[in-house]
Amino acid sequence: MLDERCKPRFDGLHAAHAQSRFLFTRMNPPPLSSLDAQVAEILTRYPVSKRSAAMPVLHLIQDTYGHISNEAIEWAAGKLELQPVHLLELVTFYPMFLQKPVGRYHIKVCRTLSCALNGGETVCEHFLEKLKVGLDETTSDGKFTVSHVECIASCGTAPVVQVNDDLYEGVTPQSADEILDRCK
Ligand code: FES
Repeated sequence: MLDERCKPRFDGLHAAHAQSRFLFTRMNPPPLSSLDAQVAEILTRYPVSKRSAAMPVLHLIQDTYGHISNEAIEWAAGKLELQPVHLLELVTFYPMFLQKPVGRYHIKVCRTLSCALNGGETVCEHFLEKLKVGLDETTSDGKFTVSHVECIASCGTAPVVQVNDDLYEGVTPQSADEILDRCK
């Protein structure tokens, strides 16, 4: 059984809704132009500078498609009257933005000091071995991708793993198996 520390901290309806929307858009990706109205609404919140809307626009794209493609960066740059490289800087800096599609469950294993010292790499290798994939690869059924992330601010409960929006603390190879079992 997962002990209390290993239960996801963020769970419930929001996650289920986000997951079902992600699945839908992954199978039926809408054109970028379908976001025109939402981007226009975001821009009304930043009347002084369109540049200030960069983060919410990138979040919108990430939430819709599960990643931010080069095409989407160029499209958004046009909307925000920026050079694409300005958005690329944001996309590559913030770990919540992804440049490539990932599986339905994106398993992010922290590799920073506290987690590394407390067995994070063993947990990561366990996931890779169990799923028979390499780091940043997606299983053939499209279900799982395992990646490293830098510190996700839960150092006191290292090693930690985030699966989509759910945070798991004090993860061991045994509890890693139970985390996979929860991903139906
Ligand atoms: S080092 Fe892993 S959460 Fe901070």
